[in-house]
Amino acid sequence: MNPVDIAEPLRSRWSPSSFDPTHELTTAELSRLLEAAQWAPSGGNRQPWRFFVAPRGSAVHDVLVPHLSRGNSGWVPRASAVLIATALLADEGEEPGDPTFPAYGVGLAAGQVVLQARAMGLHAHQFAGFDHDAVAAALEVPAHAKVLTGIAVGRRGAPDGMSERDAERDHRERRRLPLAEIAFGARWGEPFPGLQASGPTVAEVAEAAEDPGGA
Ligand SMILES: Cc1cc2nc3c(=O)[nH]c(=O)nc-3n(C[C@H](O)[C@H](O)[C@H](O)COP(=O)(O)O)c2cc1C
Repeated sequence: MNPVDIAEPLRSRWSPSSFDPTHELTTAELSRLLEAAQWAPSGGNRQPWRFFVAPRGSAVHDVLVPHLSRGNSGWVPRASAVLIATALLADEGEEPGDPTFPAYGVGLAAGQVVLQARAMGLHAHQFAGFDHDAVAAALEVPAHAKVLTGIAVGRRGAPDGMSERDAERDHRERRRLPLAEIAFGARWGEPFPGLQASGPTVAEVAEAAEDPGGA
């Protein structure tokens, strides 16, 4: 299942694992990615996003890599750079409050980075599988901020040198809940009437595969 009628670069965005381990991002390209984040909306325009910028081989990259989860340790280091997205939970010296809206804001900014990457012909793959506490301690993240995710950015490459498991991930079917399960009308759980996906649903594709002669 892939989107059909939504706008670019939303349509062609996905999260590959087979990054080209020789590709590098220029500082100008990193600047554009961060500028995309900079212009995200946020509650009260508080701009709660902070990023560590970690090109492959940089000191921050060297801090992150040993703390990646087993599932992420094969593919993340191949990407040209990782942006480590952190949320500012309070002003300096203040107790961290409710993280809901800071985290919401960082999610929006991360989404803009990912789409900007695609618009630049690059790909981005976010990941939460790493030891957040160890990375936060090594990078001296203060108590009023929280490390949330990594955003691996790069150019797609051949899967040479990747484990079979990692290489296979890029060929998995992408699945999404149908609109009826995520968009409600009169009350919680009641689908908003009449909404239609522009592409076939997972169920429709499976049905067609079982009955190739069907309508
Ligand atoms: C908050 C967050 C955490 C994620 N963590 C991981 C991760 O640790 N490892 C990984 O391979 N992918 C991770 N992903 C990527 C998702 O698995 C991926 O976005 C999802 O399967 C949908 O696939 P798509 O991005 O190709 O549409 C994460 C994505 C988000 C937004």
